[in-house]
Amino acid sequence: VADIKSGPDEGLGRVGQTLVVMGWVRTLRAQSSVTFIEVNDGSCLSNMQCVMNSDAEGYDQIESGLITTGASIWIRGTLVESQGSKQKVELKADKIVMVGKSDPSYPIQKKRVSREFLRTKAHLRPRTNTFGAVARVRNALAFATHKFFQENGFVWISSPIITASDCEGAGEQFCVTTLIPTSGEAADSPINAISKTKDGSIDWSQDFFGKPAFLTVSGQLNAETYATALSDVYTFGPTFRAENSNTSRHLAEFWMIEPELAFADLNDDMACATAYLQYVVKHILENCKEDMDFFNTWIEKGIIDRLSAVVESEVVQLTYTDAVELLLKANKTFEFPVKWGCDLQSEHERYITEEAFGGCPEIKAFYMRQNDDGKTVAAMDMLVPRIGELIGGSQREERLEYLENRLDEMKLNKDSYWWYLDLRRYGSVPHAGFGLGFERLVQFATGMENIRDAIPFPRAPGSAEF
Ligand code: 4AD
Ligand code: MG
Repeated sequence: VADIKSGPDEGLGRVGQTLVVMGWVRTLRAQSSVTFIEVNDGSCLSNMQCVMNSDAEGYDQIESGLITTGASIWIRGTLVESQGSKQKVELKADKIVMVGKSDPSYPIQKKRVSREFLRTKAHLRPRTNTFGAVARVRNALAFATHKFFQENGFVWISSPIITASDCEGAGEQFCVTTLIPTSGEAADSPINAISKTKDGSIDWSQDFFGKPAFLTVSGQLNAETYATALSDVYTFGPTFRAENSNTSRHLAEFWMIEPELAFADLNDDMACATAYLQYVVKHILENCKEDMDFFNTWIEKGIIDRLSAVVESEVVQLTYTDAVELLLKANKTFEFPVKWGCDLQSEHERYITEEAFGGCPEIKAFYMRQNDDGKTVAAMDMLVPRIGELIGGSQREERLEYLENRLDEMKLNKDSYWWYLDLRRYGSVPHAGFGLGFERLVQFATGMENIRDAIPFPRAPGSAEF
């Protein structure tokens, strides 16, 4: 359908052609002599309106009520100019074949359904306008991400999901456990086996084949190893956080984009983050017009103007100290009072991005480079309205002694970072990078309020069903 309707003439140039559409029935309106079927194949937001007379082949399946909302169909016809005002073209169908029947219990009927309800139907929600549009824009953002970095000479690195180190040093890691069946029956499948743990047929060894291992919280340390060999690199993959937070901005499993720039400092890092964000936003404004119009009308009014401003305007840079001062001067009472040295909370980020204007480092991770003042680090966050922190980044500590001291100070076990320390032993270079939470970018770009609606299958406390 996108192929037919996407041109500037919205399909008019193809009038007269015989075409086949395969998709799912969105609505079906039977009138006395003619039936209108709206078919969506997911390629774009638009449906193909198909008009059918009772003499068309397969019409009996409509008459008998076999073809209903949700059914999958194959439909053939001639493309004609539409009489209706909603579309330029429609299909005058001469044959319809039902591919898969839809049971009357189909939960995504025509009337509007809430996002909360749709989260319980994550397997069917991509068939709605909203979730179809989110999936296509998410795809376009992923494509533009690779395009941006590839055009700028970055090499994509796959960082591991299973790891023994804790990049953030915050202890928010899921543990990997090897499930070893000790008897034949339990060996069939781990899911079945879990229920059998009590009978002793499972040996829960608390580790990864004899060694401790976790799901990664960030690919940064691995990216650094490649940046100190190939120069500029980036990762783009799933990361995990075992934080039990039920917010509209946190997931237990989220995708992160982590560029790492060699021979670079914090200014280079901020410039890269800005250029990246502007590039991907511009890409979707230019390539996802129909879906963006939909979000602009139905999800967040004015989002197109706000995103256009991101492409055109400069990103405001604010030091941590200035941010704290701004908050202290704000004529406002915060739940968490502000003082220099504290982590900025989301209420503070909201004030800065929405009321003051639109960075501020949080806890100082061990890898962040210490500034000459001996108390601050070379780190940045990029905050955007509605979302708060979209990007966290820093210049990395490239000096071996400083890094060792930081690990000691933070009571982190130096032995498990031996390879990371090696990078400072052999040809260390100044380098910097950042991490961008991909789902927060999808939220920012679509206006979706809850991060659970920005990823196909959200993983958060209480949701790992699908
Ligand atoms: O600020 P964070 O924790 O930074 C890092 O992980 C660094 N190692 C990144 C780097 O320098 N390479 O996370 C980076 C970003 C955040 O700004 C946020 O957008 C996102 O990842 N993020 C989450 N997104 C969804 N759910 C969560 N629980 C998230 N935690 C962080
Ligand atoms: Mg952060």
